[in-house]
Amino acid sequence: MNATTKLYAAPALALLLAACSGSTQPVTPKTPGKAPAKVTAKGPATSPMPAPTSPPAIPAKPAEPVKVVSESVQDPHSYARPQEATVEHLKLDLTVDFQAHRLTGRASLRVKNKLGVDHLILDTRGLDIQRVTLDDGKTEAKWSLGAADKLLGQALDVQIAPGTAWVNVDYSTRPETAAIQWLTPAQAGSPSPLLFTQSESILARTWIPCQDSPGVRMTYEATIRTPPALMAVMSAENPTKKSADGVYRFRMPNAIPSYLLALAVGDLEFRPLGTNSGVYALPSVVERAAWELADTPKMIAAAEALYGPYKWGRYDILVLPASYPYGGMENPRLTFATPTILAGDRSLVSLVAHELAHSWSGNLVTNATWNDFWLNEGFTTYFEGRIMEAVYGRPYFDMLAVLGRQDLVDAFQELGATSPDTQLYLNLAGRDPDEGTGDVAYEKGALFLRTLEASVGREKFDRFLRTYFDTFQFQSMDSARFVQYLKQNLLGGDEAQAKNLQIDAWVYSPGLPTNAIEPHSEAFAPVDQAVKSFAGGAPAAQISTTGWTTHHWLHFLETLPTPLDRAKMADLDATFHLSDSGNSEILSTWLMKVVQGKYEPAYPALERFLTTVGRRKYLKPLYTELAKTPEGAEMGLRIYEKARPGYHSVSQVTVDQILGWRG
Ligand code: BES
Ligand code: ZN
Repeated sequence: MNATTKLYAAPALALLLAACSGSTQPVTPKTPGKAPAKVTAKGPATSPMPAPTSPPAIPAKPAEPVKVVSESVQDPHSYARPQEATVEHLKLDLTVDFQAHRLTGRASLRVKNKLGVDHLILDTRGLDIQRVTLDDGKTEAKWSLGAADKLLGQALDVQIAPGTAWVNVDYSTRPETAAIQWLTPAQAGSPSPLLFTQSESILARTWIPCQDSPGVRMTYEATIRTPPALMAVMSAENPTKKSADGVYRFRMPNAIPSYLLALAVGDLEFRPLGTNSGVYALPSVVERAAWELADTPKMIAAAEALYGPYKWGRYDILVLPASYPYGGMENPRLTFATPTILAGDRSLVSLVAHELAHSWSGNLVTNATWNDFWLNEGFTTYFEGRIMEAVYGRPYFDMLAVLGRQDLVDAFQELGATSPDTQLYLNLAGRDPDEGTGDVAYEKGALFLRTLEASVGREKFDRFLRTYFDTFQFQSMDSARFVQYLKQNLLGGDEAQAKNLQIDAWVYSPGLPTNAIEPHSEAFAPVDQAVKSFAGGAPAAQISTTGWTTHHWLHFLETLPTPLDRAKMADLDATFHLSDSGNSEILSTWLMKVVQGKYEPAYPALERFLTTVGRRKYLKPLYTELAKTPEGAEMGLRIYEKARPGYHSVSQVTVDQILGWRG
């Protein structure tokens, strides 16, 4: 982690972020199927109009999997009606104002009016819309905003003609907008301020008016005007040098869903890693990042050898400040990543394999709705494992697989093994799609594919996957359609085999089907032995840890008894200095032990971690564990008060909910 990064240093931003807490509180939203009460551009309408804009109502819970093609799957998290009219290209012209914390400018959307309708419905949330024009920008459009839903935002209803080609929206984002984190120089750990966006799952609409559904794809171009001496980068063709005038032009010639729209602006530098890949980061971080991520070209080669050519031109990685709420985000051409992967020994680079794998699973073949999220993440976790195996060998992969299996055990424990949230296919209508992003989609999804691989053989399975990516590239995919395709193309329509493999249970039932394969790692045998003897009373100094890698340590910590008594905690920390670990995975896993064991001597380390790292995957379990006892909750709240202003809204929403934060 970047030692100079301080997440809690900026009172001004603290106030702004605290002020926005109201708009980021979790809510139980209405589905967009309901007719929104209308608010016109000039103010609230006196009487709610009938709603020609409302999409068809969503069935609350499909009794059984609906067998439909993806185009007709209604996204419960979007107001848009792409079946009628689709946005096929976006042209952005935005000015970045670091003083006002606003992006201001125009989004021009090129419309393909499939059914000759007279309304285009866009998703927006918290945008200040000034004006909407059609085509050449000289024709004023009639437009109105639907009722505001805290999660889904407001439908922007623009009247168009069947021949309208362009809809131009002049707008600004608000300072508290959910997708964007505006970092002060102190927060960024830089002499300059920095901003980044995070659009997945449904936050693109908080910085761009768009059809914010993963089932809709568009190409885009953008002009971004920044203060001089800063660099702008996007999920598009990127500069490698700062421009003299602060103006940057971007082009994304491949059609992508809105959740892959991304922008970052800051004092960034570029270092090449190979001919086709490189890394962007702050000058103070970029050398370290380039060293850590040096194997990226090998991973690209391994991925291409498995499932076909990389379709996006370059593959670069942007290493962001520690408030970045995710480990990584697969923004096309430019993965966004947390600096917590810079462990100094390249031991956490499976994250790069993961985000790179999304260039096929997710970015080429995209989940049709967030209910099908496992098609993005389960496939990607499987593919990640294959890349890691190809580059670092089978024993390395085996360790990752065992650790992933442990994560799944934990997820089942947390959710309850019969919870519908342990299905691969989810029903998230009326809920925040973020609630479906836990380990189940990743680890149960990957285990499903590994089980299929083990059953049909690797060669056949690889051929199947390669054809799947080729066949559905630049399209979306839903669970029902995938199951159908799988039965037909991998199992040759053999229903008995499909039954044997419990295909439907994997996708549509909670828990784990009985045919799930069990990963095993030889390398972990000595670790299991060490856990046994240490738990049995042997001192830590007697554990032989020579040759242990990050993954050995993680397995050790995860399989120790919980809670561990104080004397053992003290012995471990004194012997291995776990509280001072510079490895974010080891440190966060140790800190879980600290909270579970109420091991007070390590509380300062816990506080340091929670106030310097904003990665939700770490924050969520730690705050959740703290919230289990009154003293823990009190400490959690005290730390959170200090840390919250430095977290991205995505992490704020999660921790607000855990701690019952009201600001
Ligand atoms: N696409 C996800 C991140 C994401 C998921 C953002 C859901 C918003 C909603 C990304 O590919 C991912 O899975 N990141 C992981 C790292 C990975 C190595 C498992 C993360 O952030 O921890
Ligand atoms: Zn992912």
